[in-house]
Amino acid sequence: MDSASFWLPEQASTLASEVDWLFYFIVYASTILFAIVIGLMFFFGIKYRRRGRDTLTTSKDNNMALEIIWTVIPTVVIMFLFVAGFRGYMKLHTIPHDAMQIKVTAQKWSWTFDYPEGAISVNNLVVPVHSPIKLLMSSTDVIHSFFVPSFRVKMDVLPNRYTLTWFEANRTGEFDLFCTEYCGKGHSEMIGKVTVLSDADYVEWLEKSNTEGEGMPLKDYGQILYTKRACVTCHSIDGSKITGPTFSGRFGTEILMTDGSKVIMDENYIRESILDPKAKIVDGYEPVMPTFQGALKDRQIDALIAFIKSLNE
Ligand code: CUA
Repeated sequence: MDSASFWLPEQASTLASEVDWLFYFIVYASTILFAIVIGLMFFFGIKYRRRGRDTLTTSKDNNMALEIIWTVIPTVVIMFLFVAGFRGYMKLHTIPHDAMQIKVTAQKWSWTFDYPEGAISVNNLVVPVHSPIKLLMSSTDVIHSFFVPSFRVKMDVLPNRYTLTWFEANRTGEFDLFCTEYCGKGHSEMIGKVTVLSDADYVEWLEKSNTEGEGMPLKDYGQILYTKRACVTCHSIDGSKITGPTFSGRFGTEILMTDGSKVIMDENYIRESILDPKAKIVDGYEPVMPTFQGALKDRQIDALIAFIKSLNE
């Protein structure tokens, strides 16, 4: 946190110092102006106070010099701010043509990242340091907003429209990612991180995520996916009720649905619930789960089933 300051988190992107510089300029300029205005107000209030019943206020003539000074100086300052702000704005919105594009999908209440090489990650955006990253973003449900304070990057993520933003991380490390648009019950849990790696580590990470789960027992792989693919956000494994039903101790049991029917929780039921979550809704829960059609491979679904099954043991 070397470049963190009292007001702002560390500057972990190429845009950060420019944003901060302008922010501080405005903060200090406003503070100075505030002090001058309030200071003079008190000073004049005391100096020109009414001293007796007979004192009358004299009428003042126009003071051309003063008028010019307090018109010209603020105008120059405001114009300067406009130009500096506009330049920063253009920089924030001009995506370098060589930027690497990552697809960001927001859904209640997690972030999914699709990489050009085919890897997928959830709630953890992994990027190489010192390279421009372009984010192509959309939402599957409501409006979310992608916010990484350390990068000074914030952009709304909308359903039925793509939005774009970009950044270039200037140091390795882990940085907070927040959803900063109220998106329902789980909004405050829609958090993640951005992991910035060196080029070599990034290549290694990509290779690892492409062969993820290979040669691993299904239920162990399922356990990894449970956290990594954000099932954990809505489904507990300790029996507690959160947004969705718990996974614990349910496999093989009969479960009551909202329409009054009963379903045995078996492999086919779990598979259907992952791919078509609105087909059957467990009694007492809302139909809020997004589909994972296309987002999970068959082996990953098998792994999750094996993991859920293992919770009965
Ligand atoms: Cu997504 Cu708040």
